[in-house]
Order: sequence, then C-alpha cells, then structure tokens
Amino acid sequence: MTLHLIAGARPNFMKIAPVLRAAAAHKDLLNCQIIHTGQHYDRSMSDVFFEELGIPTPDHHLGSGSGSHAEQTARIMVAYEKLCLQQRPDVVVVVGDVNSTLACSIVAKKLHIKVAHIEAGLRSRDREMPEEINRLVTDAISDLFFVTEPSGVEHLRREGHPESAIHHVGHVMVDNLIYQKHRLEADGLAQGDSLAFKATHPHYGVVTLHRPSNVDDAETFRSVAGALRSVSERLPLAFPVHPRTRQNLDKFGIDLGPRVTLLEPMAYMDFLNLWKDARMVLTDSGGLQEETTALGIPCLTLRNNTERPITIEQGTNVLVGTTPARVEAAAREVLDGRAKQGRRPELWDGHAAERIVRILLDSTNAAC
Ligand code: UD1
Repeated sequence: MTLHLIAGARPNFMKIAPVLRAAAAHKDLLNCQIIHTGQHYDRSMSDVFFEELGIPTPDHHLGSGSGSHAEQTARIMVAYEKLCLQQRPDVVVVVGDVNSTLACSIVAKKLHIKVAHIEAGLRSRDREMPEEINRLVTDAISDLFFVTEPSGVEHLRREGHPESAIHHVGHVMVDNLIYQKHRLEADGLAQGDSLAFKATHPHYGVVTLHRPSNVDDAETFRSVAGALRSVSERLPLAFPVHPRTRQNLDKFGIDLGPRVTLLEPMAYMDFLNLWKDARMVLTDSGGLQEETTALGIPCLTLRNNTERPITIEQGTNVLVGTTPARVEAAAREVLDGRAKQGRRPELWDGHAAERIVRILLDSTNAAC
C-alpha cells in the first residue's frame, strides 16, 4: 500500500513523526511517502523540526509558500493534483486543520483516492476561524477518521459518518511529546534560547500567540498585549514570536514592556525545554492546550472557544478570552497556588500512531 503523508505547516511535523515511526515497523506492507506542501518554509518553521524529530527528508516538496487563503490553497491543490496523477497513492493521510490539510484532501477525494484524517471531528463552532472551515470540509469528504477525544466522535456521528469509519485512537501529538520529552531528559538535548532564559529566570511563564483573530486586528492585539504586560509584572514571560505575530507587533507598534522577553520561533526541543518547567502557559494555540494538559502545566487559553473541550473538562486548560481583567484574574489564581488540577485523557498514552497504522492496514486488507 502506498500512503501519502501530508505535512505543510509547523504543527503538522510533530504529528507525522510518530506515524512514520509506527509505519516503519510494517515496511514490507506500507510504502510511506512524505509530501511537504511548503506552506511553512523558513528554516525555523520547517527544516529544524525534520532534523530534530528525526523525520526523513520529504519525498516530494510542493513549494507552495505563503499567500492569501485562496492563493495558498490553490497552489497546493494544483501541485498536489499533478503528483497524485503520477503516483496514485492508495491512501492520503492528512493531519490537523491547516490549509495543506484542506487542499490535499480535496485533491485526493476528487481523484477517488481514499482520505484518512488524523485529529478528525474537532469543532470550535467558530466559522470565522479558518481552521474550522478546514476541519468541516476535510471531515465532510474523508473516509477514515482518527479522533483524539470523545467530542470528536460525537460530532462525526451527528454529521452522519458511519460508525465503522470513526476511530477514537488518542493523540499522535502526545505520542510525539512523550517520546521527545524522554529523549530530552535522557540525552540533555536542550539547546538555544530556552537555556539562557531559564538560567536567568527561576520562575516564568510562556506565551505563544498567532491566531489571526488575536494578532491581525490592532485593537484586539493591543488588549491582549495589555493583559500580558500586566501578568508580567508578577511573572516574567518568555514569548517566542511567530512570523505573523512579529509582522503585526511591528506594524501596530505594540510594546509588551520590559518583563516580556521576545524570542525567535523555537525548535521543538528548545521550546519543550522552556514550557515544560513554566509556572503557566498563555496561548491561543490548539496543540499547546493539549500538550499542557498532557504534562499537567496550567494553561490559560486566550480565546473565547476551543475545539478541544477535553482539555477544559479533564485537563489544566482554562478559557480566558482576551480581556485584560479576565486574563489577570486567571493568572492570579495560578500564582496564588490555586491552579486548576487536571489529568491526562484516555488514550493519550504514546501509542496512538500504532493504533492508526494497524487500522490503516486492516482497512486496506478489508477493501482488497
Ligand atoms: C498556519 C495555520 C494555523 C497553524 C499555524 C501554525 C492555516 C489556515 N493556518 O497559520 O492553523 O496554527 O500555521 O504556525 O493553515 N510566514 C513566514 N515563514 C514561514 C511561514 C509563514 O514568515 O515559514 C509568514 C508569512 O508572512 C505568512 C504568515 O507568516 O503570510 C502566515 O503564515 P500562514 O501559513 O499563512 O499562516 P499561519 O498564521 O502560520
């Protein structure tokens, strides 16, 4: 069976690494090809993850680059259609909710190629969020659904997908986290900005911010910045800045004050080494809400909704929106020793990718 594994943007890379490791145990049955769409292309947003996470060089690079949603999605679709017509993979595996996920699933499905979606079924119910549109469209046309949490199963059932196609398998990103944390601790692999920052800050928080709804609008971004400045008066903050956020910080002339340290985007190990010891994480990332739950680190999510409700129900995540008063109150809870306690959700055990590969093998055997 030839399988295309699609990755294009930073959060995809850590999710494909465990799938590749699990697939390697079935080399005789699975020919796994890595397709990099080129959605993210800076070394710090792409190559470093391949090197650090032990992902082989992509078999094909589509070189899409940045652009508006339509431009980027269309460029990936045109390039990927050509490749699919040459190669005719048996299954296209897409992960998450980025534009690469949407583009490649549409192309594959229109060529009658089976699509498997990892991290299926998540819904924020916020249709102004580009990822929500990507999730809805991808799930509408996928054939196999690999789900991280019960809410995803519920949504897919309600949307009419057959029970036999829905598989609650756990989370490949947590597989990767468990695997890499072990490596980090065993081999002392930390290097980069995290070491210098930790050496001078015994207690600190970590910030990540890149959602268009938070950083593309000057007024919202100023309000979030005010909240961060205020939290930083009690707890110094390290903030590795995403390129989108960097552009808007400069454009809007936003000042985060002297106790928020702006850093370059970090490689996986450097960033893990930073946030795993933080007093709290303040973020609008999807993945980090889950990773902090997996390691039990308090997480304040600077959004009004989440597509990952299990992190609220069982984990350490609290939705705090973007108004300074709410963010400050939630940060105070943590700093005053009243942080929410959580537990690791069912099946977030480091073995999701093995379950996925087993199901992929079984489903193709059944189809033969
Ligand atoms: C994308 C995903 C988002 C994911 C995020 C993680 C979509 C719709 N969004 O958002 O879900 O959480 O990646 O990072 O797919 N840029 C660079 N270098 C790069 C890549 C981008 O400088 O390597 C700059 C470009 O100016 C670009 C901007 O960042 O226009 C935004 O990149 P883009 O891929 O469009 O969206 P993200 O905000 O990264």
